[in-house]
Amino acid sequence: MKFILLVASALIIAAVFYFYVPRHDPQQEQFVAQSAELIKQLGGGLKKELGTAISQHGVPAAIQTCKIQAPIITAQTHADSPLTIRRTSLKLRNLNNAPDAWEINVLNKFEQQLAQGTPIEQLTFADVTETNGRKQRRFMRAIGTQDVCLNCHGAEQNLTADVKSILNSEYPDDLATGFAIGDIRGAFSVSQTIEN
Ligand code: HEC
Repeated sequence: MKFILLVASALIIAAVFYFYVPRHDPQQEQFVAQSAELIKQLGGGLKKELGTAISQHGVPAAIQTCKIQAPIITAQTHADSPLTIRRTSLKLRNLNNAPDAWEINVLNKFEQQLAQGTPIEQLTFADVTETNGRKQRRFMRAIGTQDVCLNCHGAEQNLTADVKSILNSEYPDDLATGFAIGDIRGAFSVSQTIEN
């Protein structure tokens, strides 16, 4: 009797482990590491480009740099990689950057975590998703709002008349203003399709 009880408890414990303890997935771990590296490259590239443009040509001219350069730098960053990277946000400037359902969910989760005190640099999320039979590895990292960002994404008093007028004509549906330092401006989103 004791023996049967012992075997039964062992089986239950094994089942709990099997279903509830996340399984070690080296490919997913590799994907997360590659995504983090790609985000570092793209984030660094964009910030450098933006800094140079602002110091050489001023904020209004840098809007054009951001508009033209951001997609180019993004394309270059993943030219020779199976990973796709983009930027997205709950409050968009360019509608081409609109989040999908999974990204909206993660962005909302980031907002909750930030409100509960998690530092912005720690806001990341990875998953394997399946949509219409298409399996993907996915990873997101929150992008914080810094001082320099306020020039183009800040509140009314942070934006000069020039900047406002260019943003109005280039992005008539712009929702990406009113941010303060430390807010989540958006997120980098990386994905990789899993071939069956
Ligand atoms: C010189 C103006 C300018 C500055 C400064 C600036 N941005 Fe932007 N930002 C833009 C423009 C213009 C776009 C739209 C680009 C496009 O058309 O793809 C944009 C788009 C974005 C997006 C993509 C989502 C969306 O709303 O379309 C993110 C994320 C973003 N910016 C974050 C930042 C962060 C973080 C900083 C500070 C480090 C920053 N930006 C500084 C002008 C600026």
